[in-house]
Amino acid sequence: MAPSAAPADKAAPGTARGEDALAALTALVRDDLEACNRLIVERMQSRVALIPELAAHIVAAGGKRLRPLLTLAAARLVGYRGDRHVGLAACVEFIHTATLLHDDVVDESALRRGQASANALFGNKPSVLVGDFLFARAFELMVADGSLEVLRILSSASAVLVEGEVLQLVIQNDMSATEAQYLEVIEGKTAALFAAATEVGAVVAGRPAAEQAALRAYGHNLGVAFQLIDDALDYSAEQERLGKTVGDDFREGKITLPVLLAFARGDEEERAFWRRTVEEREQAGPDLPRAIALMQKHHAFADTVARARHYGDAALAALMTFPDGAERRALADVVEFCISRAR
Ligand code: IPE
Ligand code: IPE
Ligand code: MG
Ligand code: MG
Repeated sequence: MAPSAAPADKAAPGTARGEDALAALTALVRDDLEACNRLIVERMQSRVALIPELAAHIVAAGGKRLRPLLTLAAARLVGYRGDRHVGLAACVEFIHTATLLHDDVVDESALRRGQASANALFGNKPSVLVGDFLFARAFELMVADGSLEVLRILSSASAVLVEGEVLQLVIQNDMSATEAQYLEVIEGKTAALFAAATEVGAVVAGRPAAEQAALRAYGHNLGVAFQLIDDALDYSAEQERLGKTVGDDFREGKITLPVLLAFARGDEEERAFWRRTVEEREQAGPDLPRAIALMQKHHAFADTVARARHYGDAALAALMTFPDGAERRALADVVEFCISRAR
């Protein structure tokens, strides 16, 4: 078994361990999160029974609710005392859930949140269509909020997210893809929604542009760090804890940082291995363990985590714009959570 890319004991002294950090954030906004979860269940209803049936499958499977937690805590951080952030947190989670339904079809993934994926259980067609439904519900929630600025931020994030997914498809199975392209993919598919999720917290509170930008920078950098770790975990995690199939990225020939680092540092024979497995998608049983072994040999996991730390530090720097308090501490600890998470 490969060592975890992000052992929990890596937490810096004085910071909460990863999972405690998420628990602390959840505790801080518990009432708001419960209201958000109620709104999610309410708004996923439809007179067409298959829609709530499929949506309930993925919603009830849990998930960390990380993005709505970020929206809720960001709004509180800047002193917001109303309830618009609850609708926007639900909206953000709807966008995320819609992309997960679509993503598992695109990636042909069989596991999500520790359960059979919706596409495995209901088929591709209902998954794509219910994903569209949830996207549409997200837009209804934005319209209900009534702020054109919020609509601008979240609609633009949705477009950038899909651009990231499409660019990823374009560079898939291509070992000549660059780190810059990979970064563009993860900034789009993941960081854009994190950035929007935190930025709207400042918008509902009517805070000045500098605070809006700082919250956006926090979310963006956190999102990049989160996806870097996710890409290491796709090879290095224990499947049971991950709740997703380990090796999905390898099977699909996804170009991620651990692959790029191992390829760049490999000898000719190793590069031939990557070309066969990732480019030609000719894979046999021992290939995934070999890929993991090559990544370990070339410190690809450790360096991916180090890169995530770099973005995590940028997220922390952006947070320091705000005065110390329970929200700032919880949001700071989320950085550690994203880097040290094991699921
Ligand atoms: C999964 O996101 C998609 C990625 C950006 C890697 P999460 O890991 O936040 O998924 P859930 O919501 O907790 O299941
Ligand atoms: C998740 O991307 C989907 C989006 C961020 C839009 P991945 O395909 O990398 O994530 P998992 O591993 O399936 O959760
Ligand atoms: Mg996927
Ligand atoms: Mg994907």
